[in-house]
Amino acid sequence: MTKNKALLAWVNEITALCAPDRVHWCDGSQAEYDRLCGEMVKTGTFVKLNAQKRPNSYLCRSNPSDVARTEDRTFICSRQQADAGPTNNWRAPAEMKATLTDLFRGCMQGRTMYVIPFSMGPLGSAIAHIGIEITDSPYVVANMRIMTRMGQAVLDVLGNGKFVRCLHSVGAPLKSGEQDVPWPCNATNKYIVHFPEERAIWSFGSGYGGNALLGKKCFALRIASAMARDEGWLAEHMLILGLTPPKGPTIYIAAAFPSACGKTNLAMMNPTLPGWKIRCVGDDIAWMKFGADGRLYAINPEAGCFGVAPGTSMQSNPNAILMLNQNSIFTNTAMTPEGDVWWEDMTPETPATLTDWQGGQWTSGCGRKAAHPNARFTAPIVQCPVVDAAWEDPKGVPIAAILFGGRRPTTIPLVCEAFSWQHGTFLGAIQSSETTAAAAGAVGVVRRDPMAMLPFCGYNMGDYLAHWLKLGQQAKASQLPRIFYVNWFRKSPQGKWLWSGYGENSRVLKWIYERVTGNGRNTGKGQAVETPIGLMPSVTALDTKGLNVSAQDLAELLRVDVAGWLKELPGIREHFKKLGERLPQALVDELAALDQRLLDQRLQT
Ligand code: GTP
Ligand code: SPV
Ligand code: MN
Repeated sequence: MTKNKALLAWVNEITALCAPDRVHWCDGSQAEYDRLCGEMVKTGTFVKLNAQKRPNSYLCRSNPSDVARTEDRTFICSRQQADAGPTNNWRAPAEMKATLTDLFRGCMQGRTMYVIPFSMGPLGSAIAHIGIEITDSPYVVANMRIMTRMGQAVLDVLGNGKFVRCLHSVGAPLKSGEQDVPWPCNATNKYIVHFPEERAIWSFGSGYGGNALLGKKCFALRIASAMARDEGWLAEHMLILGLTPPKGPTIYIAAAFPSACGKTNLAMMNPTLPGWKIRCVGDDIAWMKFGADGRLYAINPEAGCFGVAPGTSMQSNPNAILMLNQNSIFTNTAMTPEGDVWWEDMTPETPATLTDWQGGQWTSGCGRKAAHPNARFTAPIVQCPVVDAAWEDPKGVPIAAILFGGRRPTTIPLVCEAFSWQHGTFLGAIQSSETTAAAAGAVGVVRRDPMAMLPFCGYNMGDYLAHWLKLGQQAKASQLPRIFYVNWFRKSPQGKWLWSGYGENSRVLKWIYERVTGNGRNTGKGQAVETPIGLMPSVTALDTKGLNVSAQDLAELLRVDVAGWLKELPGIREHFKKLGERLPQALVDELAALDQRLLDQRLQT
């Protein structure tokens, strides 16, 4: 329990507002977790999976209307609209609070209200921050126990200290005697609302992923990015990995790819290059601060992975498959007749019959997907066979390189290195990707997604980019991570992948390692040529031994498509125009310089 007066008062206030039948303070114990999961099995929210195949694991099917983050229902309610900026939905805080207070009034009737104390980052670490999530969803409690450090130990560390207020309800009160449904949610009213100045979150109506597990995107990115702006650090949508060559020291790399664009896969990949090793620190979020030595150090604020299930296989991501062997929750996957989970491309052979993600019968070849494209697993990161030894180090790991990337079937090459931190910030600012099933809405539409933070930046995007530039100016250039832009997702005109991706991405990481450490100079590796868009490997600089990609495709992957880039420029200008007057002039200058370099190149050829 706690003596924290502010916390006790807040819990009383919310109890009075939401009118739950019961209040439960989560202690975070295994017994509590098992009891809640057992209750969810009884109510039909959870299906217990075959314990021989997958011990202590559960399948959950959401309401088909609640399967992903809802960006159009996500709001940043800063006092000034300009502080939310042109890329965020905004309402005046008082107006939004009035709307939400009406919705939250009595919204937990017939339900239990859970109080979840959680720490983002290792308990007691100077970089960590504590939040309290109040929710009426036991599904959220179970997931938060895997995704964060949760329970009584957090209250002990909190003492009388400050915490981020995270209020969540599925928005489905039960009248007395009314039968509950397996996945309660509110079909007409969904609000994912952030008050960055108050460091508070109010989420109503959805039970899914980033909408409901408030430690993740709402706190660790939207609220934390505003904290980071005020305090001089970075809260980013980035994986963190350790890369070790056959001989030589480990470097750490952070990479920002938009949702469902390969972070989890890269973070725990098995390199195809002999002797190279990758270790996972985090697969979704990085909090980064400059250390006393001037280098940038990153921690993973999370304790679990909430990863995309479809496409995950022993072939593509064996370490994720092994991580999921036990103690995991699966949401919106299919189920086999043996009581195990399945999803598209999980196994070489598709089972003949399944129960699909909506609980219906499914037969191979029926034309429907068995798992939802945004089906997810929740698993403790310590179960990942390649979790890094330093993954919980409270001082973090020193970042040597930062990668930006996304899904671009054309134009963007396999890899290119920025000329400088400022040019790298520019590459991040113009980052683009096809949209995916991780958010509700159209899939496969190219959009500009600066630093993969478009849906997650808790303040004005122009200010955010200025913050990146400012941190770069304050640091010593030689101490700063080097910045790279990668694209694993090039396609032929016929729609075939040009690059085999996954473990083969280690070839690109090797070049990056050589660039960063200066290793490989005398072997002709790690070399770069200057191009209008950045520093690029010549075809011989990349280690292609044993690679199953044709010379022609490789040349295409490493070609500077001057015409294609010139075609990008109007879209980039429009994107910059949309970002408005707070977009730093230095980035406008970078765009003009790129334009000039491309035109010069076109004249030469
Ligand atoms: P979020 O959890 O939504 O932030 O996603 P993420 O960035 O962690 O993406 P994830 O690693 O889960 O990958 C999403 C999808 O992309 C999966 O279906 C993967 O199989 C696929 N994918 C990942 N890496 C590669 C790659 O190198 N090449 C190709 N072609 N597909 C990939
Ligand atoms: C993402 O969409 O980037 C995710 C999944 O990591 S969610 O937690 O739903 O935001
Ligand atoms: Mn993500």
